[in-house]
Amino acid sequence: IEKTDLGPLVGAIDQGTSSTRFLVFNSTTAELLSHHKIELKQKFPKEGWVEQDPIEILQSVYDCMETTCEKLNELNVDISTIKAIGLSNQRETTVIWDKFTGEPLYNAVVWLDLRTQSTVQLLSKKIPGNNNFVKSKTGLPLSTYFSAVKLHWLLENVRKVKRAVEDQRALFGTIDSWVIWNLTGGIDGGVHCTDVTNASRTMLFNIHSLKWDVELCEFFDVPMNMLAEVRSSSEIYGLMKSGALEGVPISGCLGDQSAALVGQMCFQDGQAKNTYGTGCFLMCNTGTKCVFSEHGLITTVAYKLGRDKPAIYALEGSVAITGAVIQWLKDNLGIIETIEEIETLAEEAGSAHGCYFVPAFSGLYAPYWEPTARGIICGLTHFTNKQHIAFAALEAICFQTREIVDAMNQDFGTPLTHLQVDGAMTNNKILMQLQADVLNIPVVKPSMPETAALGAAMAAGAAKGVDVWSLEADDLSPVNVEQFEPEINAEEGENRYSTWKKAVQRSMGWVV
Ligand code: G3P
Repeated sequence: IEKTDLGPLVGAIDQGTSSTRFLVFNSTTAELLSHHKIELKQKFPKEGWVEQDPIEILQSVYDCMETTCEKLNELNVDISTIKAIGLSNQRETTVIWDKFTGEPLYNAVVWLDLRTQSTVQLLSKKIPGNNNFVKSKTGLPLSTYFSAVKLHWLLENVRKVKRAVEDQRALFGTIDSWVIWNLTGGIDGGVHCTDVTNASRTMLFNIHSLKWDVELCEFFDVPMNMLAEVRSSSEIYGLMKSGALEGVPISGCLGDQSAALVGQMCFQDGQAKNTYGTGCFLMCNTGTKCVFSEHGLITTVAYKLGRDKPAIYALEGSVAITGAVIQWLKDNLGIIETIEEIETLAEEAGSAHGCYFVPAFSGLYAPYWEPTARGIICGLTHFTNKQHIAFAALEAICFQTREIVDAMNQDFGTPLTHLQVDGAMTNNKILMQLQADVLNIPVVKPSMPETAALGAAMAAGAAKGVDVWSLEADDLSPVNVEQFEPEINAEEGENRYSTWKKAVQRSMGWVV
């Protein structure tokens, strides 16, 4: 049978905290042709510790790619028309491996992990000069969230890592580096690189010079020979070494939140998107300017779409736990059997009935940066049932986003007129309606919520001269949108929000 000729296709690996996906887009229409998803395990070996198996992550990437190719074959689509592969990945998660054996020297320490709380306290006492030393170079507050403190902990506490560093066998990478090194050959010539967006989350990268920072590496005791080469987000890093896509270039790489910003076409200064995944990340493009927040947001590299293109920066409000709270209700409390069921429960409840749920499982990130916070559910009465708790969990996601939007509005001085959203949870209509009510502005969702993968595909295609939507186009309306308008009166919304703030205060100071 003749294979269907669709023109050039572009693939995207979307390696998130909860799952890995491989998606293939038609470059002419940006239509998603086929995809495959594999859920991932997280390990919680001790209170506050969160790890993943780097081999499981890697295997899930290979399996998703192979299965998607099989699905395309069944659809009679010629996989040799896949011209480029992009990568969008969970950020900050830290892997160290042996460059001669390819063996990971420890589990991946996940961005949510809290084991470095005391490391952060010790390091903050050692900060040279003024307190701004780390923030002014990296745009980030000293926190358990970022890679440098995780790396510092691994170098101090894991004998295997220490020995490999002494023998100059150890390589460090965020998930992008680990995946690209392996896909391009691993011990047989794998490319050890990262892109500016992922590098900007390590806390070792100077976001002004776009280089690893010698003083930061000294401060965190990180040998620079274990760091990856920093490249732009759109260029050929290397070729697939094996599998159905052998020989296809990997030519796009962005941290997932940056990839979603690109996939949502937020290319203009002031354009923002909010992605609902394990956490929630609201990112606002600030153009070529590094804007520093006065209200608890971080400054980060948004993207650099080509070696000769300028770096574009963003302000970001990072919320650690949003989708993860629904996962927790399923896995730890068992009040739902599937993630989707949360919508039915919340609908049955109609409101949280005075119940508030602050899911500060990993402390609180933006705008508080409060590591001593822990999760609380409050306002309980005899009347409270699991439906109310489900509703409160969804409302918590919306309130946390509201706090970020407020901070963003204060930093910019001009309030957002609508919120562009994406991510798997945006399929939950109750959540989207609640979000519009809590923000009192419309919430706009693309009909194809896989914007991170689309962004990675766009970056990969651009490096190979294959436009998946034109990065230069003026009319950037990639996908149909669905809009949610605020429905409750503003006063009612404000009352609920101010009670939420009280609950947040109560969640703080649980751990000293
Ligand atoms: O900074 C962490 C973020 O990149 C994780 O994204 O999609 O796994 O929630 P996600």
